[in-house]
Amino acid sequence: MKDSWKFITPGYLKSGAGMSMMVFEYIKELGAKKIYLVIDPNLLRKNYLAKQILLKFEKIGSYVFSDFGTNPTTDQVNNSVKLFKKYNPDAIVAIGGGSAIDLAKATILTAENGGIIEDYLGGKKGTKPFIPFIAIPTTCGTGSEASPYAVIADPKLKKKRGIEDYNFLPRLVILDPELIKSLDNTILAATAIDALAHVCESFVSKKANEITQSSARGILLGLVNNIEKATFDKDSDHIFAMLNAAFSSRLLYPRTGLTIAHALSHPLGAYTNLHHGCAVSFFIPESFRANYPYNKDGFDEVFSLLGFKDSEEFYSWFGNFADRSGIKTYIQSYLEYKDIPVEVIAHDAMESSNIPSNPKPVDESDLVSVVKKSILYWKHK
Ligand SMILES: [Fe+2]
Repeated sequence: MKDSWKFITPGYLKSGAGMSMMVFEYIKELGAKKIYLVIDPNLLRKNYLAKQILLKFEKIGSYVFSDFGTNPTTDQVNNSVKLFKKYNPDAIVAIGGGSAIDLAKATILTAENGGIIEDYLGGKKGTKPFIPFIAIPTTCGTGSEASPYAVIADPKLKKKRGIEDYNFLPRLVILDPELIKSLDNTILAATAIDALAHVCESFVSKKANEITQSSARGILLGLVNNIEKATFDKDSDHIFAMLNAAFSSRLLYPRTGLTIAHALSHPLGAYTNLHHGCAVSFFIPESFRANYPYNKDGFDEVFSLLGFKDSEEFYSWFGNFADRSGIKTYIQSYLEYKDIPVEVIAHDAMESSNIPSNPKPVDESDLVSVVKKSILYWKHK
């Protein structure tokens, strides 16, 4: 079998409880004096360690940007670009979930190469090298710190669009479970389910190969136990295992692509502003069911590695977990107050780069059917 793909990882990985403070040593090593810090505003309200880190950044005269929400928008990025250029930093640090890390990536790309973020979402490529970029994730799902992608919401087009740039890989990533403990159960669970989806979808993808699958097997083993313990016990070891799973699975899917669960989650997020992990959760049961006959062996192996005897046992656990963690209530509250434009979501999802890797060859009507079944699933749950 012949195959080739670009496999680029972050330069350094530091991991362990309390390791996020090591960021200052690395900044010293770089000789950087002006730091542009992108930090999740929600984190600052609840996490003592994050507050200590922020104070230290302020003490060394860093510029702090935290004017963004769950799904960073084009306006927020363009605003950040203006401030970034004015400040003219020599390094950028992102502390937060996928929203903070993606916003930081989009900021550097646009600030270094000129124009506005819409240019790059429309296909323009950056040519200039980046200043040093450091990412410290504070959720255990997105894996954005290990990926060459950034996803930004464009409210004018009502679309979430992605940019691929291998310069997005940070010079340094720090995985620190102490920064995750303050997350509430629902968000921690939703981000963990996002990580689970990444590895499951990568495994059953049409583009998976022996190397990606053997790496995925190691991530899938024990994953459900880690999700449960990380969510409900907020235990450092299990949170750390989830951080590792999110990081490792994200290294695989630039090669494998994902499936319609992710293809549909982005337009749903763009139209409803639903949290990405909840949008992925929304589609897991019905997209997996639709794909199952097209890669039965792959799905059966995934369910077995996760510790289930068959697909039904997996769906039963998933439904029960969504209930206990608050994901179900979160999704149902969105369904209650927002109209879901089924046809538009299906149409937009067909543009996703995850369509060619989906096990089942799909057209728009297949996706309409998955969206409708998913709405019914959560309504009657
Ligand atoms: Fe995801």
